[in-house]
Amino acid sequence: MSPKMVLLLVISLLHTYIALASDPDPVQDFCIPNTEFSSTTHQCKNSSFVTVEDFVFFGIKKPAKKIEKSRFLATAVTSSVFPGLNTLGMSFVRADFGPGGVNVPHFHPRATETAFVLEGKIYSGFIDSQNRVFAKVIEKGEVMVFPKGLVHFQMNVGDSQATILGSFNSQNPGLVRIPNTVFGSGIEEELLEKAFGLSSKEIGKLKKRFGPQDLS
Ligand SMILES: *[C@@H]1O[C@H](CO)[C@@H](O)[C@H](O)[C@H]1NC(C)=O
Repeated sequence: MSPKMVLLLVISLLHTYIALASDPDPVQDFCIPNTEFSSTTHQCKNSSFVTVEDFVFFGIKKPAKKIEKSRFLATAVTSSVFPGLNTLGMSFVRADFGPGGVNVPHFHPRATETAFVLEGKIYSGFIDSQNRVFAKVIEKGEVMVFPKGLVHFQMNVGDSQATILGSFNSQNPGLVRIPNTVFGSGIEEELLEKAFGLSSKEIGKLKKRFGPQDLS
């Protein structure tokens, strides 16, 4: 079986297991987490000490590093890196693709995503629970929506770098990459062999490729 076929199989098996939930509505104007407390206590900073700087994020002016051919790099901006988002029910991501770069099939368990193309041409799509693919090439200035919990994917099909801004209706949308989840998570090999009709050698190759060390 070709790797493409395996991926499609995995997608069809996984996308029914999704737990859905929404962020709660805020009960105050904002809640900048108080860093003097541990992040699990959800204490808000005294608002007398909150400034405009708490609501501005500077971290995605540029790609995280230079993008080479076939590479993909994403910088997720959730409430854990941008505390101003805390309790507000949204977050975003900057994703840069070198020519041919791929964002592997993945889903966000807690958010719908809109992907706005800032630069380039991106083959972009998702799969619904009837296993139908909705995909096309979108270009600079165009937006696609990926419904909550559905598997989606992107590939730069232009000659130069491409960039998207993804927005989520959760401060912590979560990210489940299908190949990494299946082949990189340490599921018993015998199960994977039986589930996908692959030899131990083939599974070994996939495990190596999608193991925990490669999450880029
Ligand atoms: C917040 O800080 C101000 C200024 O120091 C202080 O007057 C106020 O009592 C504080 N509020 C709370 C809820 O601690």
